[in-house]
Parts: sequence; structure tokens; C-alpha cells
Amino acid sequence: MKLKGSLKYISNYFCTTQFSSMADIDNLKEEIQQFKASSQEQLEAFRIKFISRKSVIGALFGKMKEVPNEEKKAFGQHINELKNLAQNKFQELITQVDAGSDGENESKVDLTLPSSFAPLGSSHPITIIRNEIIDIFSKIGFNVSEGPEIEDDWHNFTALNFPPNHPAREMQDTFFIEKNPDIALRTHTSSVQIRVMENEKPPIRTLSPGRVFRNEAISARAHCIFHQVEGLFIDKNVSFVDLKQTIYFFVKEMFGSNTKIRFRPSYFPFTEPSAEIDISCNICGGSGCNICKYSGWVEIAGSGMVDPNVLTSANIDPEEYTGFAFGMGMERMAMLKWQINDLRLFTENDVRFLEQFKSL
Ligand code: PHE
Repeated sequence: MKLKGSLKYISNYFCTTQFSSMADIDNLKEEIQQFKASSQEQLEAFRIKFISRKSVIGALFGKMKEVPNEEKKAFGQHINELKNLAQNKFQELITQVDAGSDGENESKVDLTLPSSFAPLGSSHPITIIRNEIIDIFSKIGFNVSEGPEIEDDWHNFTALNFPPNHPAREMQDTFFIEKNPDIALRTHTSSVQIRVMENEKPPIRTLSPGRVFRNEAISARAHCIFHQVEGLFIDKNVSFVDLKQTIYFFVKEMFGSNTKIRFRPSYFPFTEPSAEIDISCNICGGSGCNICKYSGWVEIAGSGMVDPNVLTSANIDPEEYTGFAFGMGMERMAMLKWQINDLRLFTENDVRFLEQFKSL
């Protein structure tokens, strides 16, 4: 006899065999589906009857050798289905018994037990320092403005009075977009100065925090991604004294009233005169260490009076208005504040490092 795989046909066949009937298999199926367990003993009873090697299903497999060859396939399929059904049901029963429920939604969960706490995260040190800087400057009337990280040549360089062949435009410093040399990742937040001046009329008092990018090898002291905060102050009769006073106020608030400050003459295309700002080393207290290179001083910012050419680029009349600008490194500031000696720690996301800022 050749089996075609039709259920009715198989069923008829098994009904007439001496080995086992489809009715038997159906009954077992029914029994498995209806089975309820609320204790380990009942679970064990199910296991012995339907899962163990000596189970009824095991016995059916044992009868396989007595089934004529041409019917083996269909018979095998049926007991395999039964076996899968039993195994799935067994998993279901285990879950129910573990949860203390017999499947009738009867909850035995102890609601008075304390819950297990998920570990609390902490703000990243750069976020903390950014917020502190904004808080301090907001006390003297600065607002916050932001600009894009992908910038055009005009905002990052040309409007800031960079001469056409200035070395900072060259490939070793700037990440250009390959297909369009007019577009680059901004190398400083000074680009936001231009965007603010193009869109607002003086008086302007704004702070622009953000991420900047430079093509530098990564080490303890340098990184290709870091953060700056730009300050811009434009009004009538603004002088270098205002710049100095603003920086004095900020440094004393941030690092304490004993911190010393000095301005060193410097050069930036977009400020004239320009100065770099150093503070007494917060790590060794000025006596000399590897962070301040044994000088007792650490640079925290570049600054200066906004060059008249820059004001003109942004449609502000340099005869009427003057202003100052500064750009500070946030990582540097965080390093000094919390005695961090490796720039790479800020981007590695090592939880042991980040956890230390939990209480701040
Ligand atoms: N943009 C300068 C830098 O990245 C810093 C700076 C900002 C200097 C504003 C002067 C005025 O180094």
C-alpha cells in the first residue's frame, strides 16, 4: 500500500494497525494540551509521562520498527509533532510553576519585596563643564547660540579674515569633504561668531559651545575631536578692558578666587590685538608638574578684539561697533578642574572613569 500523506487516509490506516491508532495519538495530544501544573510534583509527572525516555511518546518511537517501510514516514511525522507539542507545553508549565501561577492568572509575586535597582548614570564631564560655563556667563548677560558642525569655507575661514593661503586651511589641519573643498568639519567654534553677527544686530553677548574637528593624531594631549566654547561681545565702545574683566570674572568663578590669570600677546587672523590666556596650574598649584610642563601656567583660551575686517564681513559697521571674542577648550578646563591627565578618557566611555562624576 502506498501512502499519499492524506490525514484521513493515514488515520484510517493507523486505526486498523495493531501498533497504535491515530485515535491514541489524538488522545495523547488532547491530554497534553489540557495538562495543568501548579507544583513541582505535577511538573515531574508530566515529564515522566511525556518527555522522559520511558514516556508514552518514547514508546511510540519504539514501535517505529514494527511499522511497514512505506508507512514509516507518515507515522514518524505524527509522533514527532506529538513530541514537539509535549516539549513546548513542558517549557510553558515550567514558566508557570516558577512564576507561582497555574495558568489561571493567579499571581503569587511578593509585591512587598524591594525591587532590584538599575544603576544610575551620570552626566559626561564635558556636559558638566559646558553647563557650568554657561551658568557663569549667563550671570553677566550672555545667551547661548549654536552653529553647524559641517561648515562652509566662508564661515570657518574667509569671513574670519583668514588669508587665502593660510596654513590652517591646508589638509593637515582640516577635514574637508572629499567631493567639495568648500565644505569642511569646523575647526573651531569661531564660525558661530559669523553666523550670529549675520543674523543679529548689536549689542551681542553670546556663548557658542560645541564640537570641533582637527586632523591631529590622538594622544594624551591631542585629539581630532574636542570641544570649544566661543564668547562674543559686540557693542559700542567695547575695549580690551572689558575682555580682561570678563575673563577675570569667569576664571575666579570657575577655578576659585586664588587662581592667577595672565594674558600673552598672540596672533589670530580674526582678532587684533590678540592674546592667549593662561591660568596658574590648578594641578600643582603653580609649583610645576607635567600638565603645565613645569611652568606653573596652563593655557585655557585664545582671545582678542574682533578684527574690523570680520565685522565688515558680517555687515556690522566697525566705525560704530567694537567687540571682543574668546575661544576656550572645554576638555582643557575639565582636566584642570578634576585633575584628568589624559584627553582620550573623554571619548573612551570607560564606565569607571564616568562614574566618578556621579555626584556632580
Ligand atoms: N578660534 C581660536 C582657536 O580655535 C580661538 C579664538 C577664539 C581666538 C576667539 C580668538 C578669539 O584657537
